[in-house]
Formats: sequence, C-alpha cells, structure tokens
Amino acid sequence: MRRKLAAGNWKMNGLTADLGEAETLATRHPDPRSEVVICPPATLIAPMAARLAGSAVGVGGQDCHAVASGAHTGDIAAAMLADVGARHVILGHSERRADHHETDAAIAAKVTAAWAAGLTAILCVGETEPDRDGGRTLDVITAQLDGALPEGAQADNTVIAYEPVWAIGTGRTPSAAQIREVHIHLRDALARRFGAIAAEGIRLLYGGSVKPANAAEIFAIADVDGALVGGASLKASDFGAIIAALDAA
Ligand code: PGA
Repeated sequence: MRRKLAAGNWKMNGLTADLGEAETLATRHPDPRSEVVICPPATLIAPMAARLAGSAVGVGGQDCHAVASGAHTGDIAAAMLADVGARHVILGHSERRADHHETDAAIAAKVTAAWAAGLTAILCVGETEPDRDGGRTLDVITAQLDGALPEGAQADNTVIAYEPVWAIGTGRTPSAAQIREVHIHLRDALARRFGAIAAEGIRLLYGGSVKPANAAEIFAIADVDGALVGGASLKASDFGAIIAALDAA
C-alpha cells in the first residue's frame, strides 16, 4: 500500500518571514494520513527543518549537485541537504531543465548523488505543449524516465512526479483521462525496468496547477499517489486544503 505524498515546491519564493506558513501548516495538520513535505529555497531548508522538528511536515531541497564536494561555486551537494534536515530532493524539474539546460544524463547523476546521501529523489518528467499536440507525450516521458532514472530505483528512494510543462503555473490541467494514461504508462515502464515490486511501491505524483478547487478530482484518479504543488503550497490554507483532500481520497 503506497502512502500518499503531498510535496510543496516553493521554487524561488520565501524569506525567513514566511517560515510561519510552514509552522501554521504543521500545527493545523499534526497527524496527516499522507506524508507531507515542503521544499523551500535552499536558504530556508535549515531554519524550516528546525522549526518543523517533531512535526509531521518534512523538508526537502529543490536541486542538488551530482558530486559530493569540491570546486562548484554556488552549488549544493546532496549530503549538505541531508545535513540540515532534508529528506527529499526534487530533481529534473522542467524549470531547471529549461533555465540550467539540465539533460537527462545530468539529472541521472544527481539522482545517484541524492540516493548516496540517503535522500528520496522526486524525479520530474513531463511533456511540453508541442509534444502533446504532436502526439509525443508518452515517448517523451519514456525517454525522460529511461534517461534520468538510474538503476536501483525503489519505493523508498524514488518518487516520480508527472508534470506537464504546459500545466505548470498556468491554471490549466490535463483531463483525468490524460493524467491516468500517463500514470499507467509510468507504472508499466517502472515495472519493465525495476520489476513489479518496485513499480508497485514507487509513488507517482501529479504536478501542475494543483489547487484546493481541483485537488479532490485529481486525487480520485487511479494511480495518482499525491501531488507536487507549486504556487498553492506557499500558503498554509491552500496547501492544507490540498492535504485534506489527499487524506480523504
Ligand atoms: P504549480 O507548479 O503548482 O504552481 O503549477 C507545480 C510545479 O512546478 O511543481
């Protein structure tokens, strides 16, 4: 039985003054059925982990470097995230693929580094609008999964987030049938590569314009094990409503 997961991606938002939102969330949801994680900007990981210590809300990173240490100005190693309390790290987000030209091979190296540091990788895959219009969605996602997920993926080190690029921050979401088609495809692809047991345990999140108003509908889709939530994770009231919908699903 897969435990549902609500992961918040604060992206490049949040100052120390915003840590109160995370604390409010943890206070309002002391014992959620779902696992709950917030991935704030790197500057807030340590203070957020300290403020959420002992609560049901975990903390994660939004990226890590592929190597453990060295001359990489501005980068952060996976072990550094773990050192300050992160247990998860988002990898291969489409914004990083676009802004930092991250390739599937580069992302795979980061996943390996995350695992070595004991972190759970939340690996993002998803098609662009031209991909979908051109009928290439499943091919693009297969290629991303094959290229960015190394051997050794299992339920306790890997989460896959299906995030159609055209749905991120746009208010648009795929139909339930479209989400279901991709999630079934992902589950099959995982089973072929990693075996039925791993594939049954690895959680598949949907991400892209998840909000309180559409959460219940999305969480009712078979094979959706939770959500990666951007904008709606910034406020305790919105993210809390999404967590409640996930708990009820
Ligand atoms: P959004 O972002 O919920 O603001 O669309 C989701 C994401 O990019 O993870």
